[in-house]
Amino acid sequence: MNSFSFHNPTRIHFGAGQISVIGKEIADAGLSRVLLIAGSGSIKTNGVYKQVTESLQKHGITWVEGWGVQANPTVTRVRELIAVAKQENVQAVLAVGGGSVIDTGKSVAAGFFLNDVWNAFCRKEEILQALPIYTVLTISATGSEMNGNAVITNPEEQKKWAIASPVLYPTATVIDPGVQCSLPFQQTVNGALDATAHILEYYFVDTNPLVTLRIDESILRTIIEMTDLLKANPCDLVARGNLAWSATLALNGISSIGLKGGDWACHQIEHALSALYPKISHGEGLGVIFPAWIEFMSEREPAKFHRWSREVWQEDNPSRALRRFRDKIEAWGSAGRLRDLGIRKADLSKIVDIIMVMPIVGSISRFTASDIESLLMLAY
Ligand code: NZQ
Ligand code: ZN
Repeated sequence: MNSFSFHNPTRIHFGAGQISVIGKEIADAGLSRVLLIAGSGSIKTNGVYKQVTESLQKHGITWVEGWGVQANPTVTRVRELIAVAKQENVQAVLAVGGGSVIDTGKSVAAGFFLNDVWNAFCRKEEILQALPIYTVLTISATGSEMNGNAVITNPEEQKKWAIASPVLYPTATVIDPGVQCSLPFQQTVNGALDATAHILEYYFVDTNPLVTLRIDESILRTIIEMTDLLKANPCDLVARGNLAWSATLALNGISSIGLKGGDWACHQIEHALSALYPKISHGEGLGVIFPAWIEFMSEREPAKFHRWSREVWQEDNPSRALRRFRDKIEAWGSAGRLRDLGIRKADLSKIVDIIMVMPIVGSISRFTASDIESLLMLAY
């Protein structure tokens, strides 16, 4: 095991009926006015909004609403919501939705105290404090409900960048997996692929933290099994619950203990894809990039991929395991190639340029511009 420090301060309320505790959580902290942030309206049709607002009312919390957060959320909307938060004198942020809504909420919470929130993404201003953050999760994917990260797009600069800070962990999060029955299957798959990618970003960097690797294999296998079950029945509550907790565990610190911080090249590449093509969902993009990365890396270092082949896919060689991984992604109806995502070949060099603005890409192998170009060609 490598040395590590672990602390995750987010209180989780998991299961049916738990949305009703959100008002008490906020009231118990001595807070009485929040900015309720949401997306394009799914929470109105699936009953989540009603449950949240009833709980707020019951505990004497007033709120102002900020709707319209889009998938691949923008800094433009973050800035607008910071202005609302200031004007309305809110004391906390309550994000009700998926990763896009939660990341917007975290950015508003930090940006409330900054000259300009984008400065934090460019490391020109430090995040020292944030409004308290509460979340009600409606799609399991990013782990944002139990981590201190947020990812936001600046459309003018074609940058999709991240912030991370201990003050951005939600104080409390509700995960009621049953509310995810309303997800279209493709969104469930996007979440499953994102959570899978979070594990894989860590999994290949070291072989010594066996306990973490074995937890990670169990999460990977659970994600595959549960997603298969949800394809057959979107409201299988056992599968919803297991997939939801798997996705939280994939990026709340547990899956990475002792694993040297992970690799993250695939995430950097995918973030560049959705910076240029905001219609590409993060999970689907990763479903194309990660298999291509495994193909690329396993040619260079095949030994690194034997354990994954054996423990996750019960195969004795990486190319057969990779075939199984790609077949699964196809069976779930997700894209297999960059061209299926609508990416133009002429844009590949632009994507390389967007990625290479980063000082470092990858840790198992430090990727050069020409490595990334080869990887993108492999994925095209
Ligand atoms: O707009 P609404 O109405 O909320 O609809 C959403 C959206 O269209 C819909 N949805 C969510 N819950 C639903 C539902 N539809 C029906 N029933 C429900 N119960 O699903 C769509 C996608 O939502 P989104 O929040 O975008 O999905 P996700 O949770 O996958 O978030 C993706 C974003 O998070 C970032 C990604 O880059 C992307 O911008 N990430 C955040 C991370 C973090 N903070 O730690 C790490 C990740 O690696 C990732 O980068
Ligand atoms: Zn991700």
